[in-house]
Formats: sequence, structure tokens, C-alpha cells
Amino acid sequence: MKEFFVIGNKASNSLSPLIFNYWFKKYKIKAKYSFVEVKSNSFNKEIKKKINNKNTAGFNVTIPYKTKIIKYLDSINRHSKNIGAVNCVTVGKKKKGINTDWFGYLNSIKSKKLNKNKKIIILGCGGASRAIFYGLKLKGYQKVYVFNRTKKAIKTSPRILYTKEYRLIDDYLLTADLLINTTPINPLNNKQIKLIGKKTIISDIVYTPKETVFLKSFDKNNKIYGITMLIEQAIPCFQHWFGFKPIVDNIMIKKIYSKIL
Ligand code: ATR
Repeated sequence: MKEFFVIGNKASNSLSPLIFNYWFKKYKIKAKYSFVEVKSNSFNKEIKKKINNKNTAGFNVTIPYKTKIIKYLDSINRHSKNIGAVNCVTVGKKKKGINTDWFGYLNSIKSKKLNKNKKIIILGCGGASRAIFYGLKLKGYQKVYVFNRTKKAIKTSPRILYTKEYRLIDDYLLTADLLINTTPINPLNNKQIKLIGKKTIISDIVYTPKETVFLKSFDKNNKIYGITMLIEQAIPCFQHWFGFKPIVDNIMIKKIYSKIL
């Protein structure tokens, strides 16, 4: 039987097994999807063992190994090279890595129909933030600003973009159309939250609980929940592994939502 898994340091909390095993059953695919929770000091040993297992056909990579995985692969595609992170690997004669986070995030905001001159603020500058920034720029969004507690640089070939400091965020918050939190907490204080108008769309990439501490701070705004990105990034992974686009049906949605209340 073909084996798939998600590897990360908190992989046991991931909803990826639920999503993929649901599709395997729905499409009568003889495969199983599990999680591999591994600490940094045993990642090397564990990933080598899993990659060389003849049953392994593919896997997902999550925090904090999306960059670390690259050296174990034979090739990665252009988008993952540009982002510097891989979240989906196909294992065959060669091990090939791709990044579907950027694409998944773009699809999660599709229904909001934001035009390209809208102002977008990203809080945090980790792996997920970089993928989202990359996707938004690739799609043609002009006004994307990244804030982080420590100064970081994002390669935006041929230029480099430096993150801004939170103490300079007030004016940006007043006019933001979309505010995306990619940190595990709420990095804004109460004064800053009050600057955000009702029309700003609020987005968090953490998917459990559905209403994160950050999202809970906004009761009048339109929201994009982290679970949408998780599902949207899983679709192209499945498509890479099996060659067709899986359907997200209502039973699946119900199963997922019952886990993130
Ligand atoms: P991911 O791959 O999911 O993006 P990550 O790479 O660990 O995860 O990134 C987490 C982001 O949250 C980083 O931008 C981090 O800020 P630093 O670059 O300064 O470390 C941010 N973050 C984490 N804890 C935070 C906190 N308590 N306050 C503000 N930002 C925080």
C-alpha cells in the first residue's frame, strides 16, 4: 500500500491526515496518510528512513522543516526555489519538491475579489508569510507590506524587501483592505486593533481553533479562516500525486469543521 504522511514538530495536531484519508476513501485509492512528529535533533535520521521506505509515495512538510527538507530532494520547482520552502514532496525514482502554500492562500481569498491596488498587510515573516507574499506579488498585488518584530529581508529578485517595525504600523492599519496574521499569536495591541475599520478583511493562517485569539478581536469584520488555506493547499498536493483535482464535498467540510470548533 502507498504511504503518505505529514512531517513536522507538531504534526500530530495536523488535519492533513483527515483531509487526505477522506479523499483516498472517496476515490477508492489504496493508500494511507499518517503523521510523523519529529524533534529537530532526530529529523535527519527520521526523514532518511521515511524517504527510503519503498512504500512512501509522497509527503507534506510543515513547521519547522519546510526549508530543511530541500537538501534531501533531487529537485524543487521554480516557485519553491523563489520562496525557499517546500511543503509537498513526491517520492518516485526521484524526490521532487513543490510549494503549494502560496497558491493555496491565493485561492483562499479568491471569493473576496480584491483588485490589484488594494492595500494588504502581512504580520510576521516566517515561511508561511514568505509564501503568501510571493503569491500576492506574483498575482500582481502592488501594495503589500510586511511587518515583523525582528528585521528580516525578503528576496524579491532583483530587489530586497525589508520588513517594517510594528511601531510604524498605525497609518497602514487605518487604510488596510486585507490584514493577514501569519504569527502564532496576536501581535497587535488594543490601540492598534481599534484603528482597523469594519471594511478591512481579516485573515489568520492558524486553523485551530477556527476563531483564533487574533480573529476574536474583530467581531464586525469579514474574515478568512486558516482552514480555507489548509484545504486549498492540499488540493494541488493531491493533484500532483494522483493526477486529478479532488472535490471538497460537504461531508468533508463538516468533518473538518467539527475538529476546529
Ligand atoms: P511559519 O513557517 O508558520 O511562518 P515561523 O517560520 O516560525 O512559522 O514564523 C513565525 C512568525 O511569527 C515569525 O515572523 C515570528 O517573528 P520573528 O521573525 O521575529 O521570530 C512571528 N512570531 C512568533 N512569535 C511571535 C511573538 N510572540 N510576537 C510577534 N511575532 C511572533
